[in-house]
Amino acid sequence: MSLEVLEAKKRLMLKNKFGFNEAFNYKEEPDLHAALKRYFPEGIDIYFENVGGKMLDAVLLNMRAHGRIAVCGMISQYNLENPEGVHNLMTLVGKQVRMEGFMVFEYYHLYPKFLELVLPHIKEGKITYVEDVAEGLESAPAALIGLFTGRNVGKQVVVVARE
Ligand SMILES: NC(=O)c1ccc[n+]([C@@H]2O[C@H](COP(=O)([O-])OP(=O)(O)OC[C@H]3O[C@@H](n4cnc5c(N)ncnc54)[C@H](OP(=O)(O)O)[C@@H]3O)[C@@H](O)[C@H]2O)c1
Repeated sequence: MSLEVLEAKKRLMLKNKFGFNEAFNYKEEPDLHAALKRYFPEGIDIYFENVGGKMLDAVLLNMRAHGRIAVCGMISQYNLENPEGVHNLMTLVGKQVRMEGFMVFEYYHLYPKFLELVLPHIKEGKITYVEDVAEGLESAPAALIGLFTGRNVGKQVVVVARE
């Protein structure tokens, strides 16, 4: 499957399967600030940060007053010799935005509670998910590299053994 077809498939999945109101492809948008303005004309209240770099800069310009940014990751900045700077951090002051990072291992003790909450929703079809399954440990390196080139559609998992 070509990368263009893959990208279109992902965008449709976000809207039709996961129920997002809108979705756009950052690779097709020459001006991220303008794209965010177009999709969020009233601004952004909550941003779940996984990307960093140019996307974060564009999001900062589009945040609403008292908005919140939960920082989970910054994948665009991994493995770079010189990570990009962030230019629009002053927004945090002017718009009184709160930005806070977190690590999943700090919250492992809440995992049983998470399952209790989420499993019934999955069973009822209220929460859906998509997995991109790579078979065998030997396929793990390519699957990992694929994360950085947009090869995966859904959560990338590697099946080491089927019990
Ligand atoms: N805080 C924590 O405890 C914690 C724990 C685990 C993971 N994380 C973070 O969570 C994020 C998601 O990780 P994941 O393992 O779940 O991966 P994932 O979302 O399954 O896959 C990574 C996705 O990142 C996108 N991507 C790659 N390079 C990009 C770039 N330069 N700009 C924008 N998007 C890019 C790709 O999407 P496209 O196909 O559209 O390019 C790829 O599908 C990462 O930032 C990771 O570091 C945080």
